[in-house]
Amino acid sequence: MTPLIDTFGRLHNNLRISVTDRCNIRCFYCMPEETPKYEPRENILSFEEIERFVRVAVTLGIRKLRITGGEPLVRKDLPKLIGKLASIPGIEDIAMTTNGVLLAQHAQALYDAGLRRLNVHLDTLDRARFLHITRRDDFPKVMEGIDVAQKIGFGPIKINAVAVKNLVEDDIVPLARFGRERGIEIRYIEFMPLDSQGLWEKDKVLLTDTMLGMLTREIGPLEEIPDADVRAPATEFRFKDGIGQVGFIASVSKPFCLNCNRIRLTSDGKLRYCLFAVDETDVRGLLRDGGSDDAIAAAIRENVRQKWLGHEINTAKFVPPPRPMYSIGG
Ligand code: 5AD
Ligand code: SF4
Repeated sequence: MTPLIDTFGRLHNNLRISVTDRCNIRCFYCMPEETPKYEPRENILSFEEIERFVRVAVTLGIRKLRITGGEPLVRKDLPKLIGKLASIPGIEDIAMTTNGVLLAQHAQALYDAGLRRLNVHLDTLDRARFLHITRRDDFPKVMEGIDVAQKIGFGPIKINAVAVKNLVEDDIVPLARFGRERGIEIRYIEFMPLDSQGLWEKDKVLLTDTMLGMLTREIGPLEEIPDADVRAPATEFRFKDGIGQVGFIASVSKPFCLNCNRIRLTSDGKLRYCLFAVDETDVRGLLRDGGSDDAIAAAIRENVRQKWLGHEINTAKFVPPPRPMYSIGG
């Protein structure tokens, strides 16, 4: 079958699957303080439905998967799903993004199911600031999760740190030092307009160049890694002393849409060609009402065909997506 190429010539081989919109913490740049109205359970795709969708997507050239949420580990029996997806012929790589709170508890089962690559979301090494950002006092659990995952042998493990101005400046350098000690890449993600409370403003984004300046001044010179995967969203740098590397997801200061190879499946079965997409394609209906594999494949193609050139965060035309981060999956 012809691969998934959009009208701008971008080849799509990467699918992000959100397995739940629920989360056990409340990061302010994503969730409101009060528990939001979650998707009713009956709307959430079953493991069988997700597996079937992935089998069809593989015939269109999808090779890499990332499991996201909400927080994926609040979904019961997640290792079972990972095991099923890992055994689908054609799937070459599975990764998961987690907030780490339940990681210590589930790490072994995830490893046994075949998962190796983890991104753990952690903005700070300061317990009080963690509480302030996430409205939960779970910093020790996240650290334990990272410890356990490293001991079991997960790798690479990366840390996702959301960069919000006037908030995490003091965390940028300590996180990088921690990463250097532990062999973990820290990925600084510029704060994006995906929060459910509409708090985002361009002035609240801690920019990549500012962070690069801090790291250079306080740790030492960095050099860009030229052979890093051009399709991946992060720009990666290594410390010139040879110890460790960091990445930047500069969605605001340097949009990377030109290289995008990703599509997203939400937990309630909608396909999204962009984090910031306003329109989505329903696949739950097809999965539940006897839609054929061909009909599902056609829906995926149609979604990719609609894909735009890129988001317009930096222009007056930008419209925030109707879903906040926790129901898209990052
Ligand atoms: N801006 C940037 N990154 C965000 N994340 C969540 N909300 C935002 C936001 N508003 C990140 C978290 C999570 C990943 C999926 O997205 O770090 O790990
Ligand atoms: Fe939960 Fe992730 Fe949103 Fe934080 S960013 S509230 S961990 S879904």
